[in-house]
Amino acid sequence: MKFFIDTANVEEIRLANEMGIVSGVTTNPSLVAKEGRDFVQVLKEILAIVDGPVSAEVISLDAKGMVEEGLRFAQLHENITVKVPMTAEGLKAVKQFAAKGIKTNVTLVFSANQALLAARAGATFVSPFIGRLDDISQDGMELIRDISEIFNIHDIDTEIIAASVRHPVHVTQAALSGAHIATCPYGVIERMIKHPLTDQGIERFLADWGKMNS
Ligand code: E4P
Repeated sequence: MKFFIDTANVEEIRLANEMGIVSGVTTNPSLVAKEGRDFVQVLKEILAIVDGPVSAEVISLDAKGMVEEGLRFAQLHENITVKVPMTAEGLKAVKQFAAKGIKTNVTLVFSANQALLAARAGATFVSPFIGRLDDISQDGMELIRDISEIFNIHDIDTEIIAASVRHPVHVTQAALSGAHIATCPYGVIERMIKHPLTDQGIERFLADWGKMNS
């Protein structure tokens, strides 16, 4: 399983990229709004840092508007992946992007049927939101398992991005459940790195080393 970083904060992207773990970036309108910066400028900065798919989400609700927005994003770089909501209009837009060889990420996927439809429309990626399903007492991870099994049975090459990842356990479970990618907020990556026994181990090694040299 690969990692994308789920943020529009360029500094977080730079830090994670320096660790060599980032294969792509996902943004969404809420994450972009949080930064309060010009979206195209933010995209340009991200594209200069990360060599991998960078999802830019459209805000139009009709296919025509989605395609217009997406084509503008796609002009920026071949790594641009147009993020489209899982609606009938979104599927129409995905079909058009696929015909033009433009990558798409179908977002706000909450059922296996939605994922299957998105894949058949030509989506490069589907993004099941596991955290938001957990929030309403449904098992987000079961959805990842179902989509993974369906895509395997039917030899579908659309990649599954485990999205709405809230904590490190989600990441391990997504990897075990067949997600190709987990898109993680920077805070989750930080928590994945940490282990108290690692910290204690370093402390003890340094203390022993210090004793030997005192
Ligand atoms: C994915 O592409 C979305 O940007 C993101 O994972 C949504 O996460 P949230 O449910 O924590 O907002």
